[in-house]
Amino acid sequence: MSAQLINGKELASEKRESMKKEVEMLKEQGVKPGLAVILVGQDPASETYVRSKHRACENTGIHSVSIKLPDTVSEEELLGHIDKLNEDDAIDGILVQLPLPKHINEDAVIERISPKKDVDGFHPISVGKMMIGQETFLPCTPHGVLEMVRKTGIEVSGKHVVVIGRSNIVGKPVGQLFLNENATVTYCHSRTQNMQKHTKDADILIVAVGIPKFVKDQDVKEGAVVIDVGINRVDGKLCGDVDFEEVKEVAGAITPVPGGVGPMTITMLLENTIQSAKARVRS
Ligand code: GUN
Repeated sequence: MSAQLINGKELASEKRESMKKEVEMLKEQGVKPGLAVILVGQDPASETYVRSKHRACENTGIHSVSIKLPDTVSEEELLGHIDKLNEDDAIDGILVQLPLPKHINEDAVIERISPKKDVDGFHPISVGKMMIGQETFLPCTPHGVLEMVRKTGIEVSGKHVVVIGRSNIVGKPVGQLFLNENATVTYCHSRTQNMQKHTKDADILIVAVGIPKFVKDQDVKEGAVVIDVGINRVDGKLCGDVDFEEVKEVAGAITPVPGGVGPMTITMLLENTIQSAKARVRS
């Protein structure tokens, strides 16, 4: 293996140690950060994510509340829960686990969350502020990706960042965050022609397509930083969107799956919740 391994698990646990201290300090000022997670239905992957979020809160000293609703819940009832949490002084962050059942309008749900408690960074106000470089909650996975690239010590400014994927949750915002850091950003997606021409030119390649082992060694420039956002289950085993065994021989640095971006996503969620609690202290 020639590539440096970017260990998300290790970086996440370093960050969580310092967060624990921040939470202690907030508690001394009479504020306990609180996160509410709403889960609709019984999607096994979503249930796993939600459990991990609660465990992470517990370990960091953050108060966490879980609201589980059946997949038959009406949009109105779901919005009612959000209204209550918006008013609840013990709650600094609200997260509605996506995806939602088809009869519920996801945009309406996201827009109902108070931007002051939008720790996912999905509200159009948060997205708009991020776009114009104003301070706001940054979306967790993109922010985790940026932190991991920073950890490698490479300068982002002026580099060519290629993002494969254009979802609202990862692809689009991660490109924007790197643009804010003065990178040159290219987006590739399912309609891109000659994708390899772009990926082979990337100094930093970020892959969020949801296709197991989509990126192969011949798609990557020698020495590039490769960040794999994918989490796929193949024959009961987790694997990313990057063919790790092949690409690690070409890349300069690479994230593993599991133990890469995943732990960082949750860590950034905790960070946003603490940031929100600090704003409560100030207000
Ligand atoms: N589903 C997959 N990723 C996410 C995320 O970051 N936040 C929420 N709310 N739902 C998700």
